[in-house]
Amino acid sequence: MTLDTARTIPDFPVPTGVFALTVTEVTHYTDRLFKFRVTRPASFRFRSGEFVMIGLPNDEKPVFRAYSIASPSWDEELEFYSIKVPDGPLTEHLQKIQVGDTVLMRKKPTGTLVNDALLPGKRLWMFSTGTGIAPFASLIRDPETYEKFDEIILTHTCREVAELQYGEDLVATLKDDPLVGEIAQNLRHYCTLTRENYPVRGRITDLIASCQVFEDLNVPPINPESDRGMICGSMAMLKDTRSALDGFGLTEGANNKPATYVVERAFVD
Ligand code: A2P
Repeated sequence: MTLDTARTIPDFPVPTGVFALTVTEVTHYTDRLFKFRVTRPASFRFRSGEFVMIGLPNDEKPVFRAYSIASPSWDEELEFYSIKVPDGPLTEHLQKIQVGDTVLMRKKPTGTLVNDALLPGKRLWMFSTGTGIAPFASLIRDPETYEKFDEIILTHTCREVAELQYGEDLVATLKDDPLVGEIAQNLRHYCTLTRENYPVRGRITDLIASCQVFEDLNVPPINPESDRGMICGSMAMLKDTRSALDGFGLTEGANNKPATYVVERAFVD
């Protein structure tokens, strides 16, 4: 039985290994993008940048999808930033959630976009497209990121200007953040658009290839001695950005083998 709503099946039996969380906030940005926040169980621990599996109690066998946690590891709530896919098995229902509804979350977080998977360096590049900004929303609110790198450059490429709003609001609020407000001066936010007029136009891969991004930010081209990378976006974006970083001599790392860049897919499609 599938209900055409985000609401709970009455007396839904929460499976073992799953938390039932209460929605505390929902913000819709465009007809394709929304953010939601949920209560955080006291026992749930994760590292900033990791992802979890999210579902809804609206089916006897709930559909779970991977979502990066967009809030930092110290936050009392959990935040997620999601696309709305018209016939997406999860997001067609998830986009209807309201404050007070229940969201399911598997208990085990995982992921490679974590500070531990990178060797120390001077400058950290976070390359994101669309909802791929979510893990970076977590990492730029975590003091550990600023302790490890002198400079952080968050690039965000979207189709249209309205899709930049979530990231812009986030970076604006960082300035007043009691924990990272001061150190976040070392964060630079570089936004580009591909389908609407904007000061910087083009895919990040093209802006890297032409060196425009380095000129705009007045930094030297990426170098394996000083630069580290994290990439999150669609499969095609990951492939192309990975090739660009390989071309600069960076190598891909993992939790058990830190190196000079790491990759995570923005999973939900
Ligand atoms: P474009 O408009 O040229 O497709 P989406 O919303 O489809 O995930 O796309 C988010 C952004 O990622 C868009 O600006 C899109 O550009 C860009 N993009 C899509 N494919 C790639 C790729 N292979 N490399 C870099 N950027 C990409």
